[in-house]
Amino acid sequence: MNLETLLVHGSNTNKSSTGSISTPIYQTATFEHPELGKSTGYDYSRTLNPTREKLEKTYALIEKAHDAFAFSTGMSAISAIFEMFSSGDEFLVCDDLYGGSFRIFEHIAKTRKMQFHYIDTEKLENLESAITKNTKAIFIETPTNPMMKITDIIEVVKLAKKNNILVIADNTFLTPYFQRPIELGADIVISSGTKYLGGHNDTLSGLVAVKNPELAEKLRFIQNSFGAVLAPFDSWLILRGIKTLGIRMKQSEQNALELANFLKSISLVTKVIFPGLKEHPYYEINLKQSTGFGAMISFEVTSKEIVEKILKNVKVISFAESLGGVESLITYPILQTHSAIPVKILEKLGITDRLLRLSVGIESCEDLKKDLRDAIYG
Ligand SMILES: Cc1ncc(COP(=O)(O)O)c(C=O)c1O
Repeated sequence: MNLETLLVHGSNTNKSSTGSISTPIYQTATFEHPELGKSTGYDYSRTLNPTREKLEKTYALIEKAHDAFAFSTGMSAISAIFEMFSSGDEFLVCDDLYGGSFRIFEHIAKTRKMQFHYIDTEKLENLESAITKNTKAIFIETPTNPMMKITDIIEVVKLAKKNNILVIADNTFLTPYFQRPIELGADIVISSGTKYLGGHNDTLSGLVAVKNPELAEKLRFIQNSFGAVLAPFDSWLILRGIKTLGIRMKQSEQNALELANFLKSISLVTKVIFPGLKEHPYYEINLKQSTGFGAMISFEVTSKEIVEKILKNVKVISFAESLGGVESLITYPILQTHSAIPVKILEKLGITDRLLRLSVGIESCEDLKKDLRDAIYG
């Protein structure tokens, strides 16, 4: 079946006996047992809930994974993954990273004596030389948040296999519609479902997809023990979002390309970073491993005063954290998504007080351009 069809129909888990087209929301904490020693297959919703199960199987299907697990947020999904590891384990992590992931690694996982090495994973030689006998996994975002750096997934997988370590990819920005890291050899994929999968800026969620039964067994145990599962109604909202993922991704990407070119034409904009621009240094690598560039743009303006002007004056675009919804959002990474990252690292990455990040939605691109033009010059 083609991806577009899979997105709309999802897995055929729990087909409703009534024939309802929409997946029923099993708003129940627990399930009745027919008799002692017998179960319907569902005992308690933290362990397994039919609505969440449908979402999990659907996400596994579209990520081409063996199995998947739904959590209450992207951060609880990432936290659950790191519950698989132990004190003394080391991780190689891309240096440009969502601030919340950095916060977990540095302030929570580190207290459990795990070590994180932040590396420019665009350059493979940096990764290779950082591997030690304690390295257990490489954690990448590609494209990264917010600098849109691209890591060559296939090459990272080769290196990881040679050294018997796992590859974990945060696929939030491109989603399985454009990029499927497990098909490229990664072991675990995480997505903040809050973003494009849900797609409407209304629901928090996180999804983890795994490549094999061994990882699935570990994650299932952690999900049930850790307990931060996605609620039935929220599972239904994400399932509904996934149905339109394809058309939303296409429309947002088309808008993003047009807006990126538009921003380039504005003299007060000094830099535009979008993986879909041919001049992006890793355009070809992104093209090799995905079928699209997404709809996230970072851009730099001439001064902090222009930043303030834009954030105050935008009307169609909202000044808000998050990304991946039908509504366009503009974010100020240095004070919002990346406030947990030390200034020295921000400076090294180029996350300055003149950098803005735009999550391009599906509105009319003419209106988005006008909104930005008016905000800058108005
Ligand atoms: C790339 C990336 N990964 C993970 C997360 C965390 O997801 P959530 O906010 O759903 O916890 C975010 C949130 O912005 C993100 O941008």
